[in-house]
Amino acid sequence: MIDLACFSREDYDLLLEVAVRFRALPSTGPRRIPALQGRFVTTLFFEPSTRTRSSFEIAARRLSADVLSFSPAGSSLCKGESLLDTALTYVAMGADLLVVRHCSSGVPAALARDLAATGQGHVGVLNAGDGLHSHPSQALLDLLTLASHFCPQAPTTAALAGKRIAIVGDVVHSRVARSNLWSLTACGADVHLCGPPTLLPDCFVDFVRSPPPGIGVDPVARRGQVRLFRQLDAALEGVDAVVTLRLQRERMREQLITTPESYHRSYGISRARLDRCGPSVPVLHPGPVNRGVELSGDLLDDSRRCLVNVQVANGIPVRMALLYLLAAAGN
Ligand code: NCD
Repeated sequence: MIDLACFSREDYDLLLEVAVRFRALPSTGPRRIPALQGRFVTTLFFEPSTRTRSSFEIAARRLSADVLSFSPAGSSLCKGESLLDTALTYVAMGADLLVVRHCSSGVPAALARDLAATGQGHVGVLNAGDGLHSHPSQALLDLLTLASHFCPQAPTTAALAGKRIAIVGDVVHSRVARSNLWSLTACGADVHLCGPPTLLPDCFVDFVRSPPPGIGVDPVARRGQVRLFRQLDAALEGVDAVVTLRLQRERMREQLITTPESYHRSYGISRARLDRCGPSVPVLHPGPVNRGVELSGDLLDDSRRCLVNVQVANGIPVRMALLYLLAAAGN
């Protein structure tokens, strides 16, 4: 589970269907189901995380898997052990699903290849965010959140067809935006990308035109359109939902915005701006949020318009579905 570029519409629908079933499990009483009893999930996070890591671990526990979390600080990585040897150590202890986050693009894919080359191809690798490349579980939970908003009775890919979704902000540093582009266009939604040229290069308009190397033919016959906007008001015209992105200053090697205040004036989502889109248009954000920069503080706290907490909650059933389907595929 490395990238969404290889997902067909049927793949998304299967994932949504399983996630919706897990979401419907009673929230009181014993919360565990025995689906992954005897399986062993290890989270290997080489980059900070609050939501993704906890959410994967909660998901694995709800499925009755054994869970172990690895952190680089204090590990033998400090003594020079390689990432592959670290992973193989957990495999030797019984891990059969590895959830991997890394600051460099391509690490989960390389690890999956290396594991296969060392005879451990049965070990599942789940990408929990790699560099600028991909963050599939986040895009899938965004998809569940949007589909449930548009069609609470039947949150399938059909709920997204013909919708217009704006993605605003630091697109160039965002693996979430890249994964969202694959998932949203696969469902037939049109995507309005918006940001200044420093954070949104022109080439993004072609992002989903052809699948990345190794995928061959695009499994989706007709994708939604991608359009680029520099002016927020034009980007927001006629949209059904707005996804905002964090300014990822830890990835900026030079100053790409003038000040957070000026960025907020040009690209920040305020209540007035969202109201102009329509009374039921929601705003999403993968978190963590720079409060008052990408999103105004009052909007962030308004659960009727801002779906950030719904996204976090949906992360658990979506990751349960991913772990469940991946474990089933490995059997
Ligand atoms: C995102 C990430 O790490 O890519 N956050 C997340 O997983 N919820 C986005 C971000 O860090 O801005």
